[in-house]
Amino acid sequence: MFDLHGRVALVTGAGQSVGAGIATVLARQGAAVVVNDLYADRAEQVSKAIVAEGGRAIAAAFDITDLDSVVEHVDRAAEKFDHHIDILVNNAGIAEGRVNLPFRQLTPDQWRAPIDLNIYGALNCTKAVLDKMCDAGWGRIVQISSGSARAGQNIGVSMYATGKSGVEGFIRHLAAETGQFGVTANILALGHQKNLESKMTEQMIRDILATIPIGRLGDSIEIGAACAYLASDESGGMTGQTIDFNGGSQTR
Ligand SMILES: NC(=O)c1ccc[n+]([C@@H]2O[C@H](COP(=O)([O-])OP(=O)(O)OC[C@H]3O[C@@H](n4cnc5c(N)ncnc54)[C@H](O)[C@@H]3O)[C@@H](O)[C@H]2O)c1
Repeated sequence: MFDLHGRVALVTGAGQSVGAGIATVLARQGAAVVVNDLYADRAEQVSKAIVAEGGRAIAAAFDITDLDSVVEHVDRAAEKFDHHIDILVNNAGIAEGRVNLPFRQLTPDQWRAPIDLNIYGALNCTKAVLDKMCDAGWGRIVQISSGSARAGQNIGVSMYATGKSGVEGFIRHLAAETGQFGVTANILALGHQKNLESKMTEQMIRDILATIPIGRLGDSIEIGAACAYLASDESGGMTGQTIDFNGGSQTR
């Protein structure tokens, strides 16, 4: 079950945290993985770790908001693995230098980055891989999103949520268009992840944990396992869905 041998996966923003977990698990299931990140050293480190445990991976440092660069690297990766990309995980979503502020305190020049990254980043990567997936009659697109796409929160993430809700809409329409070609597209809407621990005070973490029935933050290997399912043959009947992966939190 969930055997990915013979598949090539591109995971964006996979140089650390959630994306690194996803890339690691897809490789463990047999996929050859293109480990993308804005930072070459991060992508190299994850790619090397995958290879060290017997998997297949290459590092690909590029900015997913730059369509020309995305297309160039996708083509290069396909050459390297002698196979087109048939699994895309649009994971990168936290913009560089992100600031969490209420909308009233944001200046217009702070609106664009999270929207560009979450919407144009996903559009660019999807554009670069979609035709080959449809031509081959098989493809899997997994969009990493957040509960904030569908729940209003007073934590200063309105522009991030604008990007996430926009891309969720895109994925639902994409799924409707590409199901006939054997290409599925689904959304994993995450709750708070372990990597937040280093960025928050103990009190903030306690407040968050109080809203999560399983009593702990999200684990990137578990997110990777969900992606492995959504990337597998066995998930072919599921498309256009948004799956909350948040420890049972009702507050998102
Ligand atoms: N961490 C959480 O608690 C949480 C909660 C809900 C949803 N998410 C979602 O999970 C995904 C991963 O989040 P994370 O916490 O692991 O993020 P992270 O910031 O720890 O890591 C993301 C990686 O993406 C890379 N990146 C940023 N911009 C890029 C670009 N333009 N092109 C290529 N790579 C780029 C960064 O260099 C970084 O290494 C995001 O989509 C995020 O919105 C995270």
